[in-house]
Amino acid sequence: MSQFSLFDDRLEPAEPGQPAAPPPAPAPLPVTSDERIELSPTEKRELLEALGQRAAGCERCALSRTRTHVVFGEGNPAAPLVLVGEGPGENEDATGRPFVGRAGKLLDEVLARNGMTRSHVYICNILKCRAAEMQNGRYLNRPPAAEEISSCQPWLEEQLGIIRPLVVLCVGGPSANTIIHKNFRISSERGRWFTNSPYAGWTMAVFHPAYILRLQGPAYQAALDTLIEDIGRARQKVVELRRQLKEEQASPPRSLFD
Ligand code: URA
Repeated sequence: MSQFSLFDDRLEPAEPGQPAAPPPAPAPLPVTSDERIELSPTEKRELLEALGQRAAGCERCALSRTRTHVVFGEGNPAAPLVLVGEGPGENEDATGRPFVGRAGKLLDEVLARNGMTRSHVYICNILKCRAAEMQNGRYLNRPPAAEEISSCQPWLEEQLGIIRPLVVLCVGGPSANTIIHKNFRISSERGRWFTNSPYAGWTMAVFHPAYILRLQGPAYQAALDTLIEDIGRARQKVVELRRQLKEEQASPPRSLFD
């Protein structure tokens, strides 16, 4: 699986003959504990699949009555970098996949500009079902309500608790309000690293591609360049953290009891 080398790491399952992988940990997993055994990519995939199947029947809020699909998330289950958006729109609701509309195409382009595809990262949303309201006989997207976000939060917590990424990128303000802090302002705080989130050691918010698509001319280009640069910095942060972890593993601190 050469794609993992992008982050300068080996995330493949153990080769035959190597020590057996640890047994799967029971879900739900705590997000904050550092004491847990690291799961293999296969175990992460299986746990995420099982969690996604449970989420598919979710009725924790009224969005379950109007959704077509639960949009759980997709990508590399062992990704060191996870992108979390706001919630599914019409195309995502119709297909069950995150970021497949115009905003998703732009996000794919930005990943590609940084040498990545969806197979290098994991992509999901704070809300797993489309928030929409009926207007003139059609469902139109609306911002998610606070109760809908909090009802959905346990799914995200379990999801990130399985993946345990090194870095989470909040795509847009509502995601940053949920993951980083509740008064987050994308205009002044985007691009800054935060280390206070229970979801990952390092978190940062970036412009939402749907916001960029609403801009024109130089403003569009400037915001797009900023998103490309921010995602590049996130990739670089993963590389640095991996290097740091390797160095720590090579020379672990001496035990007090040696
Ligand atoms: N916008 C989001 O925030 N998430 C999606 O999945 C699609 C559009």
